[in-house]
Amino acid sequence: METINKPAIEGGKPIRDKPIMALPELTEEEIEEIVRVLKSGRWTMSVGTKIREFEEDFKRYINVKHAIAVSNGTTALHLALRASGIGPGDEVITTPFTFIATASTILHQNAIPVFADINIEDYNINPESIEERISDKTKAVIAVHLCGQPAEIMDIKKICMERGLILIEDCAQAIGAEYDGVKVGSIGDVNAFSFYISKNITTGEGGMVTTNNDEIAEKVKLMRSHGETSRYHYTTIGYNYRMTEIQAAIGILQLRKIDELNNRRREIVKIYNDEISDCEAIKTPIEKKRVKHVWHIYNILLEIEKLRKSRDEIYEAIRRENVYVSVAYPTPLYMEPIFQQMTGHGKGCPWTCPHYNKKITYKPGLCPNAEYVSERVLTLPTQPSLTDDEAIDTARAVKKVVKYYMKR
Ligand SMILES: Cc1ncc(COP(=O)(O)O)c(C=O)c1O
Repeated sequence: METINKPAIEGGKPIRDKPIMALPELTEEEIEEIVRVLKSGRWTMSVGTKIREFEEDFKRYINVKHAIAVSNGTTALHLALRASGIGPGDEVITTPFTFIATASTILHQNAIPVFADINIEDYNINPESIEERISDKTKAVIAVHLCGQPAEIMDIKKICMERGLILIEDCAQAIGAEYDGVKVGSIGDVNAFSFYISKNITTGEGGMVTTNNDEIAEKVKLMRSHGETSRYHYTTIGYNYRMTEIQAAIGILQLRKIDELNNRRREIVKIYNDEISDCEAIKTPIEKKRVKHVWHIYNILLEIEKLRKSRDEIYEAIRRENVYVSVAYPTPLYMEPIFQQMTGHGKGCPWTCPHYNKKITYKPGLCPNAEYVSERVLTLPTQPSLTDDEAIDTARAVKKVVKYYMKR
């Protein structure tokens, strides 16, 4: 009979003695380049050339007409929304199973996030659910390519074209991903990338807006830097959403390694698949046929009906094995307090848009698949710096804990 090891949380020996520290890939070349920029004194966009070089490289890589570097992925999304004309009272359809910035940037424009449901199989927004939620106020759709797997972006684009809606791709987790051989970030009207520390390439903080639309590109450039048309002259309210030259210098070198970094993520995924795909009570993620998945993270689903513990308890027990797992994401966004406050109950909206109280009811049952997935999801890391041994131990810790808590 198979022996079942006791998890560390129950007094057993943890899989690893010390916690895994998955750090970003940083080479000597990158360090030397950072030092070169620092010594040049040209740290900002107004005096340097690195940002323009990074933008040129990025637009060639994505195969898109314009790439505009910004301070992070959130500011990239905000500019994408504002430059495409989204304003107060406009409805923007998106997924509730995503990072907050996808929806909070809609709020920054005093527009209304309308949540469509996801597919359980790939965790991405479902095109039929988008169609169901279109109203005469709908102006745009934000499709997120979650975990590095493209959403059904061609179907979504068709819906947007037929209904006259703007399509924004949130590519924060999907740098290098493709649908039918076309890179994400070149399909929507305007698109946003993030180079946050955990992303497939990183500049620490950083972001990029991409578009084939000249007018949108001009607006994004203008708003990125105070709406300044010429020195101390301003035509629109803008922001300081600029990237620094130091970030761009790192970005240029990171981008050269993107395919190598994504391939390493794929190797880690193979280790996870080999170790856990036969484990009862775990559903491992799929890679759809028409896509290139870049595995930003590896999200599994725990079949909690077969377990004696909740996902949160399983998560806690796995962490005690000294491996790194997380939960992306534990709650459909509309159930978070920020959105619940908007549903009325006499409390009013924390922002300034008068439309929320009248119109919106964010309530349980709105997106059943997103609720199902949020309750069961567990995230395994795919950072390229993870060693094979660390990836094997991560998978074994998951398996060990899940097996121990199986209903018997
Ligand atoms: C799907 C998604 N959208 C937007 C963002 C925001 O990017 P940033 O953290 O660079 O602001 C992130 C990541 O952090 C993300 O995962």
